[in-house]
Amino acid sequence: MSKKLLLTYDHIPGINTLEVYRQNNGYKSLEKALKTMKPDDIVEEVKKSGLRGRGGAGFPTGMKWSFLAKPEGVPRHLVCNADESEPGTFKDRYLMERIPHLLIEGMIVSSYALGANTSYIYVRGEYFYIIKILQNAIKEAYAAGLLGKNILGSGYDLDLYVQPGGGAYICGEETALLESLEGKRGNPRLKPPFPAVAGLWGRPTVVNNVETIAAVVPIVNGGGDEYAKIGIGKSTGTKLISASGHINKPGVYEIELGVPVEEFIYSDEYCGGIRNGKKLKAVVAGGSSVPILPTELILKTAKGEPRLMSYESLSDGGFATGTMLGSGGFIAMDEDTSIVKNLFTFARFYHHESCGQCSPCREGTGWMEKILKKFIDGKATMSDIDLLWDVQSKIEGKTICPLGEAAAWPVAAAIRHFRHEFEEYVKNPQSIHDVKHYFRLNNLVEA
Ligand SMILES: Cc1cc2nc3c(=O)[nH]c(=O)nc-3n(C[C@H](O)[C@H](O)[C@H](O)COP(=O)(O)O)c2cc1C
Repeated sequence: MSKKLLLTYDHIPGINTLEVYRQNNGYKSLEKALKTMKPDDIVEEVKKSGLRGRGGAGFPTGMKWSFLAKPEGVPRHLVCNADESEPGTFKDRYLMERIPHLLIEGMIVSSYALGANTSYIYVRGEYFYIIKILQNAIKEAYAAGLLGKNILGSGYDLDLYVQPGGGAYICGEETALLESLEGKRGNPRLKPPFPAVAGLWGRPTVVNNVETIAAVVPIVNGGGDEYAKIGIGKSTGTKLISASGHINKPGVYEIELGVPVEEFIYSDEYCGGIRNGKKLKAVVAGGSSVPILPTELILKTAKGEPRLMSYESLSDGGFATGTMLGSGGFIAMDEDTSIVKNLFTFARFYHHESCGQCSPCREGTGWMEKILKKFIDGKATMSDIDLLWDVQSKIEGKTICPLGEAAAWPVAAAIRHFRHEFEEYVKNPQSIHDVKHYFRLNNLVEA
């Protein structure tokens, strides 16, 4: 049984209320932090824990925090990224919906560590019911003296605001998020300067994912060293995985980093195997942006070692034979899945969501969607496979933000590992072409 640090109490009725949350260890880390620790002590514990950002890139959180500029007399901010728009990822929603006070406690402790007196939770606009849940929890926290002036008599003040997101995937990119939070169109900023130096309203700012901030609570409660004992290598602690696709038990699972992928897919503790006794064909392990891997490579690395649910193991082999843990959006596909059709839906998404600032992304995502549609329509030629490869290869590294890469990597991986399927669509489109599915994709017939 995997150790649980975040979803320990999520099943308890009423855990979304302050009263029940407090009865179950709630706000203990805040008391400990404010009464016994200096802000820098908390940063030190987070560094020791080895916690890495859970938003996708896996950047070490303690290091990010230590980069925060601290000029005298200039306010600093902590911004929680709760935009969660990556297809296949729904763990932040689960956490905020079930245990909103865990995030709020993490926000207060982390804001104290960073010396921020005004902090924000930027929530995906479509999560309107969660915005209400968070606002209610914040109201309770203010009433109990856990937010506002002189928190728990410590002399530390914090105001915490919830901001509904702008309704675009790009607003999850941290600098686009800051633009949006400032009331502007959510276009990513050129870096440097990085948010740690000039972020929200030009002030030093840390942007962290919901799960990252929630993990600060067990780190402060148990100590960074204890947290670092969980997991494997540089993948310390636990991770929330959003599991979806053709599995028997879709849902959000908290795993100890290092669980074998095979165990995650087939054991009853997690996904419970593939639906209807079918065979596994492929997995997108970390949200739609990361490279898809066929069964043989997701279960074992190219060296023949069991593939583990960790940052290092999933990326073993680079993109030639590996992938990424990303945001932990784990999508399993069975033997009947069309990789080309699946890729088409992803490509449509990225084309729709490109902000249009950089031409390689704006034009490239459009081209990729158009070429993929030719395959779906049965009109593609063999040279379209090479054209698709060529277009994706011209996006990576040529844009202000990584949305370009997020759009290009899935295309490259699908061609790399499933080229034969693209060829089959050219040679024999009718054999694979499921007209109804295509029309559903285009909203031309009812599901
Ligand atoms: C297009 C795009 C969308 C993103 N969406 C999210 C998101 O919804 N949530 C998130 O935490 N990070 C998202 N990120 C990553 C953020 O830019 C940033 O790295 C993250 O919030 C940092 O938090 P962490 O260090 O705690 O992971 C996105 C990045 C890109 C390029």
